Amino acid sequence: MSGITAAQLKHIIDARNLTKVYKGETRPAVDSISFTIDEGEVYGLLGPNGAGKTTTINMLTTRLSSTSGDASVAGHDINRHSINIRRIIGVVPQDMTADEDFSGMENLLMVASFYDVPKKIAVERANRLLQMVDLTDAAEKHVREYSGGMRKRLELIIGLINEPKVLFLDEPTLGLDVQTRTVMWDYIKGLKKQFNMTIILTSHYLEEVDALADRVSIVDHGKIIVTGTPSELKASLNGDIITLGFRDSKAGDVIKSFPGVLEVLPSAQGTMKLRVANADIALPSLMAFVFQKGISLTTLTVQKPSLDEVFLRYTGRSLREEGAADGFKTMINMRRARR
Ligand SMILES: Nc1ncnc2c1ncn2[C@@H]1O[C@H](COP(=O)(O)OP(=O)(O)OP(=O)(O)O)[C@@H](O)[C@H]1O
Ligand SMILES: [Mg+2]
Repeated sequence: MSGITAAQLKHIIDARNLTKVYKGETRPAVDSISFTIDEGEVYGLLGPNGAGKTTTINMLTTRLSSTSGDASVAGHDINRHSINIRRIIGVVPQDMTADEDFSGMENLLMVASFYDVPKKIAVERANRLLQMVDLTDAAEKHVREYSGGMRKRLELIIGLINEPKVLFLDEPTLGLDVQTRTVMWDYIKGLKKQFNMTIILTSHYLEEVDALADRVSIVDHGKIIVTGTPSELKASLNGDIITLGFRDSKAGDVIKSFPGVLEVLPSAQGTMKLRVANADIALPSLMAFVFQKGISLTTLTVQKPSLDEVFLRYTGRSLREEGAADGFKTMINMRRARR
């Protein structure tokens, strides 16, 4: 435990001005980010394609050296004590790593042997983990015969075979259908409850960090834009969203002039998305206003703030459209309408 300071021990992860500039690139992929994570915390990095999430994870898990800045994991410096770190962490990378030509059980035992887990203990653990993610029946099957959801579940437990103190999950549910995704969430929630494990996860999915993370950092272009608990971030928006649908193409301009509107947000054609301080109070007078102007509405929805709105507010873009593309490197750049 050489070179560990008291400040580093206070937080299980402590990153200070962590930066990565890839060889041949001029713009940093990760640009001087600083954050701390407490033991037992589930911490989410939320951001669009290319935001720098995987690069951050790869530096913290010592797969990638940093260009500048420092970080420690359980008091060990990422650049000087990588072996100590690797021993106590579990990593579930964004790309699938299990060997397709081996069974689920063989993959687990192979990874256990890298960590010098005695064979008898490794088999016991593997059986327990396979059971936890409902893969007992598929344990002896070749991984190439697994479905996408089965593979993700296997990848998760491969990351757990050394009973890590800190677990890194890079996009644990990317590409999975909604049902399988919620099953994965249950497993991840179970880990926190059962082992008080510190978990750092990255995601495109706002619902995911909302459901799982105690704290979230929104990252964009290699920088942390904002950090807080999901409820703190939502509360920071200070307002509700009302979406109105109409057929008359001129109705939007009229609705915009309603006195209680704090902001007009980007929305689909034929709809108007307004931010008001409190929808419960604004709605009756907005309805009277719309009626008075002779506009007939086709739809009306009220939305209390979500992390989606938080992302839009802080980055000026909608993450949902990008996340929905699942792996396609699309950038839908919706500039938010200024007040
Ligand atoms: N090996 C590399 N060499 C050069 N540039 C890279 C390399 N890996 C990533 N990048 C660039 O660094 C930036 C951050 O990439 P990174 O993979 O960390 O983002 P991400 O947030 O994980 O994105 P995604 O959501 O697509 O997984 C991107 O601009 C990417 O193109
Ligand atoms: Mg990534």
